[in-house]
Amino acid sequence: MRIEPIRAAGGRPAHIRHDDDLILAKGVSVVMAKQLVLQNIDLSIPKGSFVSLIGPSGCGKSTLLKVLAGLVNPTSGSVSIAGLSPVEAARKRMIGLVFQDANLLPWKNAVDNASMLLSIADKSLSRAELRSRGQEMLELVGLGDSAHKRPHELSGGMRQRVAIARALALDPAVLLMDEPFGALDAITRDSMGQSLLEIWQRTGKTIVLVTHSIDEAIHLSRHVHVLGIKPGRITESLDIGLPYPRDLSVTEDPEFVRLVVQLRTMLRASHQPGGAS
Ligand SMILES: Nc1ncnc2c1ncn2[C@@H]1O[C@H](COP(=O)(O)OP(=O)(O)OP(=O)(O)O)[C@@H](O)[C@H]1O
Ligand SMILES: [Mg+2]
Repeated sequence: MRIEPIRAAGGRPAHIRHDDDLILAKGVSVVMAKQLVLQNIDLSIPKGSFVSLIGPSGCGKSTLLKVLAGLVNPTSGSVSIAGLSPVEAARKRMIGLVFQDANLLPWKNAVDNASMLLSIADKSLSRAELRSRGQEMLELVGLGDSAHKRPHELSGGMRQRVAIARALALDPAVLLMDEPFGALDAITRDSMGQSLLEIWQRTGKTIVLVTHSIDEAIHLSRHVHVLGIKPGRITESLDIGLPYPRDLSVTEDPEFVRLVVQLRTMLRASHQPGGAS
């Protein structure tokens, strides 16, 4: 993986499709257990972008992420990742996944956990190569000095950092994250968000983050898509024009405060079944 210095990221309106779109979903609907979970999702995510999905519980955010990851097949519509189907993209190690629970192997230390998926994906790598890669990724997530620690010796935030390192070790083009900081206290969550932003700017990954936090979505993202319920669909998309690099002081910016109010209003509408679209 090429790790670059922090740089400002460019932006453009969320709804305009360009050649640099890495993820493209067209008319995606998902029916599960006779229930229309997602309806007609159109989504274009530019390469290198940071996008958040937010919406009421049960609106289909996790399902949408699973569709992008190739774990759930759409009932209709199509998804492409750099021109490939999600299953092909996953096979080519283009997709990294991070969930709310870090799911580390308790008997392995941080560096071995960080290189665990890579060890499965690439059997040709020696133990020393895996360790070196694991260590590099731990350093990237700010855990360089905790390589020898087992999961029970790490805090929840540190375990999530290892989970992010494990996903990044595959050098995926896309990082799909489902409420990765949902179980953390507010202050740890803020600093994890800031770390993620810095990792994003250093690596140039495309990040899709599912979150319930309005502040987190605005602090981190270039684009926020709001999903509504019954059926799950995109009701609104919001461009976050605040310049990068951003730090936590951005939350005091009047524009940030204005965006919080705007997104909260959109979210309120998204709680109405079949509401704003
Ligand atoms: N495997 C499944 N089989 C049947 N229904 C499912 C399945 N997975 C999810 N659902 C249903 O799809 C809907 C969307 O679920 P999903 O987990 O995607 O919501 P979510 O937006 O991620 O919610 P939360 O914010 O609570 O995590 C729910 O009504 C859920 O019951
Ligand atoms: Mg979910």
